[in-house]
Amino acid sequence: MTIHITDIARKRHTAKAYVPDRRISDEDMKKVRELLRFSPSSTNIQPWHFVIASSEEGKERVAKSAVDRFTFNAGNIRQASHVIVFASLIDADEDYLLKVLAQEEADGRFAGSPDFKPAMHAGRSMFLGIHQNEVGDAEEWLARQVYLNLGQFLLGLRALGIDATPMEGVDTAILDRGFGLREKGYKSLFVVPIGYSDPVNDYNAALPKSRLVEAEIITEV
Ligand SMILES: Cc1cc2nc3c(=O)[nH]c(=O)nc-3n(C[C@H](O)[C@H](O)[C@H](O)COP(=O)(O)O)c2cc1C
Repeated sequence: MTIHITDIARKRHTAKAYVPDRRISDEDMKKVRELLRFSPSSTNIQPWHFVIASSEEGKERVAKSAVDRFTFNAGNIRQASHVIVFASLIDADEDYLLKVLAQEEADGRFAGSPDFKPAMHAGRSMFLGIHQNEVGDAEEWLARQVYLNLGQFLLGLRALGIDATPMEGVDTAILDRGFGLREKGYKSLFVVPIGYSDPVNDYNAALPKSRLVEAEIITEV
């Protein structure tokens, strides 16, 4: 049976309770890692880093961020099979751009012509430069790429039969300190517990989806 991509988009939901003892297999976790890696980003800049907590101890370190007004998220962080902290590069310098360029070269992207490599570097530098020097929102622009990764990730997880809870309701300063992210040039944005929705306690699985109607959000010209 073919499952259409739009069915996956309609059927995924934010899990509000997990089967606590059901673990994602190592084989599926390989696919989860691939989803994280293969996201598109503007100019292929890939300004992300992920902390994957798989042990009880690791998840407890992430759960420390679900405090004060965010305590409602703590249970899902603890119950899920794995929890992923999504972090964004705070600024991209020349060394970083050259690292991405070297990877593209190693992956065979410039085999067609000697012009491709300098053109790619110039293009990426131009877009980054617009945000660093003209718009002044480079940190925000880099973070937007990480949110794009999240969108593809949520859809891809459902295609793999895995449920997820995207969470901005965490104290990112606690995560940054706990995982030493700022020292490495990154800042955390959100976390995503993943696992298997509890058929009894996940009230959101049974609720109908709610979205603004098409005429509200799409203008045809
Ligand atoms: C960036 C982002 C942050 C979110 N933060 C939380 C959160 O902290 N806790 C939570 O339970 N759900 C959170 N959600 C889930 C949204 O409420 C949910 O995606 C939305 O209501 C649509 O429902 P659906 O995901 O079930 O289709 C978040 C979703 C996104 C995309």
